[in-house]
This record gives sequence, structure tokens and C-alpha cells, in this order.
Amino acid sequence: MVPIIRVESLTKVYKGETKPAVDAISLEILEGEVYGLLGPNGAGKTTTINMLTTRLSSTRGKASVGGHDINRESMAIRRIIGVVPQDLTADEDLSGRENLLLVASFYDVPKKTAAERASKLLNMVDLADAADKHVREYSGGMRKRLELIIGLINEPRVLFLDEPTLGLDVQTRSVMWDYITTLKRDYNMTIILTSHYLEEIDALADRVSIVDHGKIIVTGTPGELKASLKGDIVTMGFRDGQDTAPVKEYGGIIEILDSKPGTLKIRVADADSELPDLMGFVFKKGISITTLSVQKPSLDEVFLRYTGRSLREDAPADRFKNAMNMRRMRQA
Ligand SMILES: Nc1ncnc2c1ncn2[C@@H]1O[C@H](COP(=O)(O)OP(=O)(O)OP(=O)(O)O)[C@@H](O)[C@H]1O
Ligand SMILES: [Mg+2]
Repeated sequence: MVPIIRVESLTKVYKGETKPAVDAISLEILEGEVYGLLGPNGAGKTTTINMLTTRLSSTRGKASVGGHDINRESMAIRRIIGVVPQDLTADEDLSGRENLLLVASFYDVPKKTAAERASKLLNMVDLADAADKHVREYSGGMRKRLELIIGLINEPRVLFLDEPTLGLDVQTRSVMWDYITTLKRDYNMTIILTSHYLEEIDALADRVSIVDHGKIIVTGTPGELKASLKGDIVTMGFRDGQDTAPVKEYGGIIEILDSKPGTLKIRVADADSELPDLMGFVFKKGISITTLSVQKPSLDEVFLRYTGRSLREDAPADRFKNAMNMRRMRQA
């Protein structure tokens, strides 16, 4: 299968900077794939998306979308892509429907077709009732839904979603996930999605690249990445004052992750089948356990493993709120 997006050593060094924001990334995305870019603040996700959507020039390397070169054929690319940028772009003084029709006119969609598509899309994201209200009256979740369908008004083959659920509550987020899943299933749309949320990538993406400091650190299916951790984590808590060193001699330990007086965190191949053995071993050494927990690998852990940091150190929800407030203030 021919990739619909090819990226080769793509690099961006912003004017006046020395360190690249995007540092020689390479990837290939197949038609119909949902491809995730996962990384913390400043990793280079938006910069990558902006280059691929021809909003930003690249410094080095090359990339094509639908066979069109990002530097030389930007118009051809813009016709086949939809973009839902990280920043909110809808005009607050227009209604949701007016925003859609405006963007449709940029794409030269005939008026009648545009009106039909707008109604259909507004229905799809349950905005039919709010369609003719000013966007300034929309809630954060309504705005994100509107932004999503603005990206769909030209019926794109490839959709770029930059943080589609940033700052949304858990319920609204899962509603967005349903819409995104529908696009993949019913329209075979290729979707490039950036996110801070591991659960989101896990739920939606066929493949994911973890990015950090402008570089791709690892690429695979969420399942492959989790499997690369090889095993489950078992955390044991012991009654105070015992010598628990003998537990570390247990043969099934792949790795000791943490060892403090009173607790031991280890990795074993498969906790489900090994726990009875492990418990028997500990019991035979005359050590008593007070707490026990098993953790299956998560993308969170994959991230930690490859970057040495936790993704949760960010507070994306607050950033989003600030962005919304700034915008309101600017326009007040
Ligand atoms: N216009 C600009 N000029 C100079 N530096 C920039 C510009 N835009 C972004 N950067 C820098 O480039 C790096 C990558 O930023 P980018 O916005 O691509 O990251 P991101 O992964 O999208 O982050 P976030 O999760 O916060 O959206 C950061 O160090 C950022 O400060
Ligand atoms: Mg970004």
C-alpha cells in the first residue's frame, strides 16, 4: 500500500533559534490510518502539523501529502486536507452555521452543497439546535465540536486534528472520540491526531509516534509499544520491620523498579500466571505481605520508559482555559 503521507528528515528551526523545534523526523502514514503524535508541551507536534498542512515552511527535509510536495504544491494539498488547529479559530461573532459556510466559500464549495453539508455536519455533532447562535455563546465542548466539523466542510481525504479534546471534560472527550471513530469507519478518512492524552491515543490511533524535543522516539501500534515493556508490574507492601531482601531472589523478576523499606515494585512477564508462584515464594521465606497490586502496561508507562518523564507533569486543561479567556478578553 502506498503511503498517503511521507515525511523524510523533516526539520524546522524557527527564525532566531538554534535548536530545531522539529528535528529530522521521518514517518509514513497509510490511507485510512489514524496516526497519533503523542508528546508533552513543546515536543514539536503543532510545528509538524503546521508544516504538513503547508501553513509553515520547513527548514530541511521533505514531505508529501497525497503525493504532493509540501513546499511546491501547497494548493493541491490544501484541497484534499482538513485542519482542526490547536487554537480556536471560529469567528465568535458569527453563528456555527455561518462559520461553516464561510469556510466552505474559501474552498469554492457551491452554495447549495455547502448548505447541505453544513446541516449534515451540525447534526452529526449534535449542534443542530445551536447552529444559528453566535459562537461566543457556545460552551468549550460545543466549540471543539464546531472546530471539528469546520475541518470537514471540504470533505477532506486527510484530516489533521491538533489536540482535538484538549481541556474537555471526560464525557465530552469520549463524544469526540465517537465522532473521530465514525470518520475513520464510514469515510475511510486518514486522520493525523496529536494529543497529550495517552488514553486518547490508545482509544483511537492505529499507530503512534512518541515525540519529545522535536524527535520521534519510538513508533508502533499502541499494542506493540505496550508489549515492548515486556511484562506487568507487581507492587508489594510488607509488614514493617521485616527483612524483605529475599523476595528479590524470586526467579520470575525481569526488573526491580523500586525497592524501599516496606515496599517492592517489580516487573514480571505475566502477573496472572505468576502471582501464585510469587506468593508461594514469599510465604516460604516467612515474609508477610500487607498490600498487593498489579499494573498492566499502559502507554503512560511506555512514555515514561522512552522519555524518562511522565506525561502527566503537564496541565493542558489550564492552558486551554487560559487560551479561551485571552481570546475573549482580546475581543471584549
Ligand atoms: N513561532 C515560533 N517561534 C519560535 N519558537 C516556536 C514557535 N512556535 C513554537 N516554537 C517552539 O518550538 C517548540 C515546539 O513547539 P510546538 O508548538 O510545535 O510544540 P507542541 O508539541 O505542539 O506543544 P503543545 O503540546 O504545547 O501544543 C517549542 O519549544 C516552542 O517553544
Ligand atoms: Mg501543539
